[in-house]
Amino acid sequence: MSDLQSSALARVAPSATLAATAKARELKRQGRNIISLGAGEPDFDTPENIKAAAIAAIQRGETKYTDVDGLPELKAAIVAKFERENGLTYTTAQIHVAPGGKPVIYNALVATLNAGDQVIVPAPYWVSYPDMVLLAGGDPVFVTGEEADGFKLRPEVLEGTITPRTKWLILNSPSNPTGAAYTRAELEALAEVLRRHQQVWILTDDMYEHLTYGGFEYTTIAQVAPDLYDRTLTVNGVSKAYAMTGWRIGYAGGPKPLIDLMRKVASQTTSNPASISQWAAVEALNGPQDFLPERGAAFERRRDLVVSMLNQATGIRCPTPEGAFYVYPSIEGLIGKTAPDGTVIDSDETFSTALLEAEGVSVVHGAAFGLSPYFRISYATSEDVLEEACARIQRFAASLR
Ligand SMILES: Cc1ncc(COP(=O)(O)O)c(C=O)c1O
Repeated sequence: MSDLQSSALARVAPSATLAATAKARELKRQGRNIISLGAGEPDFDTPENIKAAAIAAIQRGETKYTDVDGLPELKAAIVAKFERENGLTYTTAQIHVAPGGKPVIYNALVATLNAGDQVIVPAPYWVSYPDMVLLAGGDPVFVTGEEADGFKLRPEVLEGTITPRTKWLILNSPSNPTGAAYTRAELEALAEVLRRHQQVWILTDDMYEHLTYGGFEYTTIAQVAPDLYDRTLTVNGVSKAYAMTGWRIGYAGGPKPLIDLMRKVASQTTSNPASISQWAAVEALNGPQDFLPERGAAFERRRDLVVSMLNQATGIRCPTPEGAFYVYPSIEGLIGKTAPDGTVIDSDETFSTALLEAEGVSVVHGAAFGLSPYFRISYATSEDVLEEACARIQRFAASLR
């Protein structure tokens, strides 16, 4: 079987987040009381008006193929969203819709990368970026955002990483896994560097746009630096903001030549995203938006609870992120200690495994996101569950000697 796997796929690692989730599920099946803080999706349900729009679409018979990269009605709703929320002007010919944010990004990479092309991936990164780059035949180049800089990419580090082979820079704000979000000034400083390197395209993944806290002013790079508009792909989707992860709708706005290439990829692979989901997304974007701040307030309370409780744990240091529903605490203070069962905590992976064994709390270790020794918690669950989980983490940290 050794020659079954393609050399392109052989470059790719199986998802570490899925592995952690599978382990937790297995322990649950054995009857253990497990709290899983690994999943990257809101616990809220899709709003009723959106579900109703999907049901109405089925009843109208909207059950056929649509245009490969999205219904005209959905593209119009996306154009209106970019104008209303981001001050970005696109025509419908500049919009790409696909079955999730993930395929939007993959289509862009497959459409543009040649062997030897480099894609700058700031770490800590969302697990799929490097592997999508590899599958598309490019080379990911990692740059680390330090905790002291809020895990964000500094302009001088970006400058030092760009080469003549750099094709893309991937930005993700607010970030999965750190929750860090770039301020307008920080984006302006990165734009200043990018201006000097005309060969670099910018893919900004704005999936968590609507999840920012404490009055944070959200901006995206094409808005802050209009001169980069012609080489920026602004990616977004309904999965996180509208609690629609299972519906599979993601979208992007960008220069028409790039959007045309992405449509060419979709036309020979996925074809259109589900017609019914597209009609649901039309309602999500055009319908009432008032539940967004309500849900945001719930997420903010959860963030504050988790940050406060983790900072009370021995040896754990948890920065306060600006957005998304993740925190990325450091366990530097626990490395080298020994658990009651004799396990020496020598890495964030050992920490996560030992925490799961001892206290039944499932988290994802930082190495999976390219920066150790940290771990990621998703706080998209109820305050009661989070309180119990953090109490268990405190107890585990205190038990280390
Ligand atoms: C940063 C980031 N981008 C994109 C996605 C993919 O979203 P979708 O479920 O719409 O494919 C995720 C989902 O976890 C994400 O965290």
